[in-house]
Amino acid sequence: MAKKHNRYSRPDAFTRDAKASGYPARSVHKLKEIDQRIRLLRKNDSVLDLGAAPGSWSIYAAQRVGPGGSVLAIDLSEITAKTPAHMTVVQGDALDLDSETLQRHGPYNVVLSDMAPKTSGAKELDQARSFELFTAALQVARTFGVAGSHFAAKLFMSEDFVHARKAVQEAYTSCKVIRPKSVRQVSSELFIVGVGLRESAQIQARPTRPETELRGSTPEESESSGN
Ligand SMILES: C[S@@+](CC[C@H](N)C(=O)[O-])C[C@H]1O[C@@H](n2cnc3c(N)ncnc32)[C@H](O)[C@@H]1O
Repeated sequence: MAKKHNRYSRPDAFTRDAKASGYPARSVHKLKEIDQRIRLLRKNDSVLDLGAAPGSWSIYAAQRVGPGGSVLAIDLSEITAKTPAHMTVVQGDALDLDSETLQRHGPYNVVLSDMAPKTSGAKELDQARSFELFTAALQVARTFGVAGSHFAAKLFMSEDFVHARKAVQEAYTSCKVIRPKSVRQVSSELFIVGVGLRESAQIQARPTRPETELRGSTPEESESSGN
């Protein structure tokens, strides 16, 4: 039987460069470009990376923030790449995250999402799933990001783009849309970046302590315990 042609089978310059520089995937170039254009990552930052496998973005972010910072990498798939000590990997679903884990490693200066649905071939379904992942990432960023924190997330272009951009414009002091040079021509993906989370857009994290414990405390203690 003849082999099916795979248009990605020949490594391009971005793939070759990523491998030569020790990153598991060419996607590192997308974050690099966003970082260079927006100055997203700084020394000692605490970073949350959603949809992190095989690990390029997290490894790059860990290098940028240095050992005084930290990176929490979350993905449905296992990350097998060699990771630095200040990077923690959690295998799980970003749509169903345990807020205790997120709180323990947070709050975050930067929330990243390169999450992408497994493409089904049905364009509208894939776009709707991408929007769902984008929305979940924004919710997490508003809940666990510090005031002034940054957000960068992938979205497949669709009619939902205007809603996604509006939500970021409302939550952050500035919003940029970036389609990095390394995005393949056939791909409809772009990144919406929010700079400076507004304090008014922050969402209270749900309390992780059992309710019985909370009931015994004063109202002020109950409110602050959820942060
Ligand atoms: C394009 S890859 C990410 C590449 C990564 N940024 C890197 O540089 O190595 C997209 C990832 O999103 C993950 N993903 C999709 N849905 C997810 C979900 N609900 N929770 C966590 N990860 C998810 C996939 O498992 C996949 O590994």
